[in-house]
Amino acid sequence: MKKSLFTALLAILGIAGATTAQTTVFPRPQYIETADGEYVVTASTAIVAEVSTTAPAERFSEDMRVFFPEAKRPMKIARHGKGIKLREDPCIAAEGYEMTVTPREITITGGSEAGVYYGLQTLRQMIVTGNGRVPCCFIADEPAFAYRGAMLDVCRHFFTVEQVKRYIDILAAHKLNRFHWHLTDDQGWRIEIERYPELTVKGGTRKQTLVGHGSNSDRYDGTPHGGFYTKEQIREVIDYAAARYITVIPEIEMPGHALAAMAAYPWLGCRGADYPYEVWTRWGITPEVMCAGRETTYEFLENVLTEVIELFPSEYIHIGGDESPRDRWKECEHCQAFISEHGLDGEDGLQGYLVNRIEKWLMAHGRKMIGWDEILGCGISQTANIMSWRGAKGGIAAAKRGNDVIMTPSSHCYFDSYQTRERVGEPLAIGRHVPVEKVYAFDPYDKLEADERRHILGVQCNMWTEYIADFDHLQRMLLPRLAAICEVQWAADRRDAATLRERMEVLRRFYDACGYPYAPYFFEGKE
Ligand code: ACM
Ligand code: ZN
Repeated sequence: MKKSLFTALLAILGIAGATTAQTTVFPRPQYIETADGEYVVTASTAIVAEVSTTAPAERFSEDMRVFFPEAKRPMKIARHGKGIKLREDPCIAAEGYEMTVTPREITITGGSEAGVYYGLQTLRQMIVTGNGRVPCCFIADEPAFAYRGAMLDVCRHFFTVEQVKRYIDILAAHKLNRFHWHLTDDQGWRIEIERYPELTVKGGTRKQTLVGHGSNSDRYDGTPHGGFYTKEQIREVIDYAAARYITVIPEIEMPGHALAAMAAYPWLGCRGADYPYEVWTRWGITPEVMCAGRETTYEFLENVLTEVIELFPSEYIHIGGDESPRDRWKECEHCQAFISEHGLDGEDGLQGYLVNRIEKWLMAHGRKMIGWDEILGCGISQTANIMSWRGAKGGIAAAKRGNDVIMTPSSHCYFDSYQTRERVGEPLAIGRHVPVEKVYAFDPYDKLEADERRHILGVQCNMWTEYIADFDHLQRMLLPRLAAICEVQWAADRRDAATLRERMEVLRRFYDACGYPYAPYFFEGKE
């Protein structure tokens, strides 16, 4: 429905003029027009799915249970009748939706099932923050970026399937559509691979964990830490995310950040099969990396990826590629012989060879590769997708050379950073200061010409968990910064810093109602 039609409809219903009712929603919708009057949603309001599938309606009905604790049954889903009507219209952008609220009914028309779902997320926030009273309005909305991601590192600290699902719930409430699952690293291998069972038997547990900061501590807790997901559990998470219109992108780190794999299968490392590699108990960058000079390493990687792509339907597969020191490669006879034999440009060329070979393998299997921005320096192809984390400069360079980019600079998007300047009594964090306002100010298009901007696929926040062992703490690191990043992702072109504070106060009521723990600093003016 267009704006003029909405005004005409309200005139027919005898309603005119503006309203002061609550229409604050995160991320900010593209267009909102309000009018007097309201529709009151209760537990007995029906969701009328005039669409092929009732799936978005079912999710909404489940999500609303927490707000109607007295209700004996979830909100009813019908195919006809009055209530919250769900429709689809292919003329609307695929993830977009329009929502019309009159005193008689609510209609949400999505460009696809996902669009309907996002419309319902908007409605959910309005219902909750307005105590069921939804103001008459017309909303037309669609995302600025196609890729709206959040990463979770389950290697440094393991999180259960239920916790991962809860993380996904929170992403969905903020209209994110990609969950980047960091599944392998030096400190733990977390995904079952049938061909290599030791990856999770030996590689899934470290004997202890550093206490204090990686930069200055030598104390350990003396307690083993481990965990992994079976294939069945991984499928459960993929399906759970898909039901919330989120694609799960797995990350399998190579050739660095792979010590857990090398502890399981020492022949993967330059020091060879007899070296007693151990799952790492410290944080940081270890010089121990996979040997890129032996065919057995490539065979391993392809066999692992074969099982990974069988599990994950995602078009993108992340292969890491960051922080891979050259020390061992310089000393390794296999790596040096490989460099000579293939005429490679030293150790950088060797990493380039590995990345290009793996990319070709993925493409031959119908997938696209993502790598951290370090791979840019190794002679990569035009089709490699770059995740820019060491600032935005890697992403800018990649976009200028025609590679597609996901922007996730640590300066604005690393949610393992402190949210406050206060350090006394604060839980330890990696460092940096990334408060809500800084996240909100991130410009993914900075320094890019109009024709280069199309290479920015989207924006992602990253949750590394060296200093986050507990899920409540994790949620407080995520919220409310996720609200800021979701407006960069969904509403980059319509951010409004001037009203951020006042709008966040409304969103806070939504977090309270959902029972989501969040950090207090932004609300207390203590950033
Ligand atoms: C990274 O933070 N090492 C990608
Ligand atoms: Zn080697």
